[in-house]
Amino acid sequence: MTTPLDHTPAEAPLKHVRKGLPHDSAIKHVSGTATYIDDRVEPVGTLHVAPGWARQAVRGRIQSVDLADVRSAPGVVTVLTARDIPGINDCSSAFGGDPVLAEDEVLFYGQVIFAVVAETRDQARKATALAKIEVAPITPILTPDDAVDADTTVLPDYQFRRGSPETGMPASEEILSGTMFIGGQEHFYLEGQIAMAEPQEDGGMLVHTSTQHPTEVQHTVAKILGVPDASITAEVRRMGGGFGGKESQANQWAALAALAAMKTGRTCKMRLDRDDDMIMTGKRHDFKVEWKVGHDGTGKIRAVDMAFLARCGYSADLSLGVNDRTLFHADSSYFYPDALIRSRRLRTDTCSNTAFRGFGGPQGMLAAERMIDAIAITLGKDPLDIRKLNFYDGERNMTPYGMPVEEFEVMHDLIDKLEESSDYRTRREDVAAFNASNAVLKKGLALTPVKFGISFTLKHLNQAGALVHLYTDGSVHLNHGGTEMGQGLYQKVAQVVAEELGVTMNKVVITATNTSKVPNTAPTAASSGTDLNAMAAKTAAQEIKSRLIAFICEQHQCKPDAIHFGDNKVLVGDQSFTLADIAKQAHMGRIQLSHAGFYSTPGITWDRESVTGRPFFYFAFGGACAEVTVDTMTGEMTVDRVDILHDVGHSLNPAIDIGQIEGAFVQGMGWLTTEELVWDESGRLRTHAPSTYKIPTASDVPEDFRVDLYEGSGNPQATVYRSKAVGEPPLMLANAVFCAINDAIASLNPGVVPNLNAPATPESIMRAVQAMRRRTPA
Ligand code: MTE
Ligand code: MOS
Repeated sequence: MTTPLDHTPAEAPLKHVRKGLPHDSAIKHVSGTATYIDDRVEPVGTLHVAPGWARQAVRGRIQSVDLADVRSAPGVVTVLTARDIPGINDCSSAFGGDPVLAEDEVLFYGQVIFAVVAETRDQARKATALAKIEVAPITPILTPDDAVDADTTVLPDYQFRRGSPETGMPASEEILSGTMFIGGQEHFYLEGQIAMAEPQEDGGMLVHTSTQHPTEVQHTVAKILGVPDASITAEVRRMGGGFGGKESQANQWAALAALAAMKTGRTCKMRLDRDDDMIMTGKRHDFKVEWKVGHDGTGKIRAVDMAFLARCGYSADLSLGVNDRTLFHADSSYFYPDALIRSRRLRTDTCSNTAFRGFGGPQGMLAAERMIDAIAITLGKDPLDIRKLNFYDGERNMTPYGMPVEEFEVMHDLIDKLEESSDYRTRREDVAAFNASNAVLKKGLALTPVKFGISFTLKHLNQAGALVHLYTDGSVHLNHGGTEMGQGLYQKVAQVVAEELGVTMNKVVITATNTSKVPNTAPTAASSGTDLNAMAAKTAAQEIKSRLIAFICEQHQCKPDAIHFGDNKVLVGDQSFTLADIAKQAHMGRIQLSHAGFYSTPGITWDRESVTGRPFFYFAFGGACAEVTVDTMTGEMTVDRVDILHDVGHSLNPAIDIGQIEGAFVQGMGWLTTEELVWDESGRLRTHAPSTYKIPTASDVPEDFRVDLYEGSGNPQATVYRSKAVGEPPLMLANAVFCAINDAIASLNPGVVPNLNAPATPESIMRAVQAMRRRTPA
């Protein structure tokens, strides 16, 4: 028996952690040598799978499916239909309702009915077009309003209630209300959905899958094939982006590849075409938000009533967690004394909406910023002053779900510093002067806060495992349950392990996430990948180190404090050994040099049923100040300058963290300004390629873009090296751009609240501008 010892003296300088080291695959990414699934050498005889669907149908009963021409097309080996599924025909993450292959009914435009397995990908894709499918159409339910009228939901309504909104609202001096539409978002990961399944002995299957949730792919494939979980291994080296779109949405393609592999006995690969990917997979939820806010006449909020009507699509998918997170963030950073915050998860005959960076939080926060802007505009005050007036503080620090905002001082300090460093007040005057002397071009300025709850709100997901081996040459094999999607998780965890074991970075060999090494994992999501997996890996490394220490103490008859690890060496008193020597000796002494570490986040007590407890371990904070220019003749908009100050606690890797902040901000800006999903009146998605769906590019990055990390005292919670999660929170910094556009439009008619909807495309801006010109101040 050994006891875990953290032997690094507290004051020892950190060698690897908190260093801005490059992403472990940075050079491979830019030189094209990072292996994605489609780069893997295909085993001889590999077949290719393509999805078949009814190209005109939206919703309706399937009358007939004639696949004769498909089967006889060149290169076709077999065709899969629901009847080929030996197990259960469902690839949903939790609640069911997601058939891998449709049986009786088409539930949305793009639903897969059959799959072609052919010698080449081209042959498979061409053959899919030869199917003759008849569907008896039903008038589809498309918008949140349609679904409200039909009273159809994928999950029950849910709400947070605090204080007494019924009395607080009427007691308010001023009451404002409005409706806001917030659009969805396509993930547009550069690597589309893909899986490759290789049959193994005794009915087993090795599935290479581009997923954030290898365990779920493993379990789903097993369920569909009707084999034990243990027969299936899912492996992911890296994704070319996931952004939430591969949390549940990777299941179906892995299942089809595995089903094809089982049926043919050959390796089968399925890579979705970009258009199919955009049509078939779920996206960020779009919302209709009905809001009402009462304040005391000076802008201090008394009561709010918010209803979030979400387009969930045809099934529940992750709509429980996503919409809960909308409610959890409907306060943004503001104290609501009396609040009723409601959620309706509406069922529509569209693709099933899913996780997307922020997981519903961004939509909740944007609605809160709209209320604040409305208060400021109608009072003729600076929105930043109204924001600060309503910030959580020492007395007013209870969220609508009953968790206090303990770190309110960090939030205040961060926003004060940003106000200072962005020169907000001077620029506010400059913007006013510019607008007074320009009739067509209008500038807008906004400084908005971010407060994002870190932890899965589904309590059981807050756990992780890691597997660390020390070999007798002093090299280290690192594996854990987290997946790499470009966010730098592998690198951060490797830095932590190198630190613990006192080895140089080149000694730590990063390996692909694999369900046979670390089982029963949570998805890499909710920004908690590092918090969870680095802690599990740290525990594993510490355990191995403590065994070595115990061994050395015995061999050298010394005390633990005579032993120091660092630079691949072990100092024992005044003697120096290589770590390889010590590892060899320990191995000869029959000491285990491998350990499976485990971590579960402490202190999370959220109980959804009773709406009580603590959902988040902590909050991550941030602030952004954006300045924009809007052309009120054309709706064109440019982002002139952005200042960001973001809190990542003590950064594990400032280079990666700043990259995450920049990337998330730009992705958020895309969501709020250019990325527009359009379904036509018959329910077909018309924006299914980059030609019709505009994601931001390098040229959309603000000309003047200043990003800083907030220097504070680190995470007050005992996270890994006092760091904070960074993956999602900075996406919501882009709210500043939206609010700045709103500010520019508001200058057209002082006192009138613009009715700007997201995304603020030129069309959306022009609609708001024209409405402003028609309206009289309230
Ligand atoms: N960064 C890159 N480059 N690619 C991605 O797909 N996904 C984001 C974020 N950053 C993503 C990314 C999302 S949605 C989440 S939840 C986190 O990374 C997940 O990783 P983490 O928990 O390790 O931060
Ligand atoms: Mo991120 S939306 O939690 O995968």
